[in-house]
Amino acid sequence: MSIEKRVTFGSKLGVVLATVGCAVGLGNIWRFPYMTGVNGGAAFLLIYFVCIIFLGFPVMVTEFFIGRKSRRNAAGAFKVMAPGTKWSIIGYNGVFAAFFILGFYAVVSGWTLEYIYQAFSGSLSGKSAIDFKEDFDSFAGSDFRPILWTFLFVLMTHLIIISGVKKGIERASKIMMPILFLILIILCVRSVTLPNAHLGLDFLFKPDFSKINSSVILSAMGQAFFSLSIGMGCLITYSSYFGKETNLQHTALQVTVLDTLVAILAGIMIFPAVFSFGIEPTAGPELVFITLPNVFNQLPLGNIWSLIFFILLGVAALTSTISLHEVATAYMHEEYKMTRSRAALFVSGGILILGIISSLSMGRLSDYTIFGLNFFDFLDYITAKIMLPLGGMLICIYVGFRVDRKVLKAELTNEGTVPFYFFNTYAFFMKYVAPIAIGLIFLNELGLLSKFQKLFV
Ligand code: TRP
Repeated sequence: MSIEKRVTFGSKLGVVLATVGCAVGLGNIWRFPYMTGVNGGAAFLLIYFVCIIFLGFPVMVTEFFIGRKSRRNAAGAFKVMAPGTKWSIIGYNGVFAAFFILGFYAVVSGWTLEYIYQAFSGSLSGKSAIDFKEDFDSFAGSDFRPILWTFLFVLMTHLIIISGVKKGIERASKIMMPILFLILIILCVRSVTLPNAHLGLDFLFKPDFSKINSSVILSAMGQAFFSLSIGMGCLITYSSYFGKETNLQHTALQVTVLDTLVAILAGIMIFPAVFSFGIEPTAGPELVFITLPNVFNQLPLGNIWSLIFFILLGVAALTSTISLHEVATAYMHEEYKMTRSRAALFVSGGILILGIISSLSMGRLSDYTIFGLNFFDFLDYITAKIMLPLGGMLICIYVGFRVDRKVLKAELTNEGTVPFYFFNTYAFFMKYVAPIAIGLIFLNELGLLSKFQKLFV
């Protein structure tokens, strides 16, 4: 495909909304609150913020640079920019990460459909807290039903993907993202006006520094990468569809701010309600699926609140599954010269296979573990905590040390037509701070840092 002919998003708003749609998803509304709950609340939130500002933002700008400069998919980008070198490994890492993330993400997305169905049919009302837990466990662990919903969710994603970039991704995001914000704000207002809501807000915003340890830091970094969709070329692929006039720094800033805002709103929606009803914030991945319907159920018109909430979650998930699917589809379409629909079919098939295994790993296959984790948790762990930060680190090293500073600046300022006031600061963080910080967090988590310290003390 010639460079000039490559499709681009239709408008400025379309660019921002599609990219926000990619970033905002289950990561913000399902994974962020449960990670915050498990990792002790406000102290985790603080480290998460530090990771977003000092690692997330620079990596996002750098991915935008690569994507729009090369106008190719995640792996193809490096073949264009660094032909004959091994840097395209970053892209392959990304394509694999897309499959692995979708392998559990599509399952959780499927759960949202089950809950939409239950809220709609009225079967969520009149249950006790114990019923919710038991029902969730028996549903998530069963053979057939969750797989059916996973299949339906992958099908929806597939249909949007094959209708193409402009018609599919952009239109879907334009309609869905504003609705998402609106519903989220309504639910926040409902939550903070509950009795004892302040306990939840304290948990979220008053840090207890004694809770910080290496695994909390790795979790916060993983969450930052996961939530911003960085480190695996997703944003390389999306920015390859940006037009020449798109302001890359502003887009990165807008996406980072909006994504973080949605995560905080999700926290404000969930924790006051959790505390108001005396529920444990450490419930884990179940937090959203067990706690919230129970919470909603104790409100007037509970069924309607649940219905609204799970539609919101499903919508947010869909705009993200689209982006992950696109990484793999664009790769196969462009690198193997397949038609888009054929590439999409291969990708959907692959996701379904992984999805079926990870869904069954909650039930029938729960005894089969990898490093002590079931298949579902294993996919989550290796992507968020290993593949994404590693990918982000390599992206920064590549651009920091292999790309001419002038070329970088020209692309990020649209050939000098828009200013980039903090360019040198950005470049410093991207080249040195991000790779070194990510490296140290890895070493620390592996326990190597403390062994090293002992040599000197
Ligand atoms: N960021 C999305 C979320 O928060 C998930 C996601 C979409 C993602 N594309 C990604 C995560 C690419 C990592 C990499 O739900």
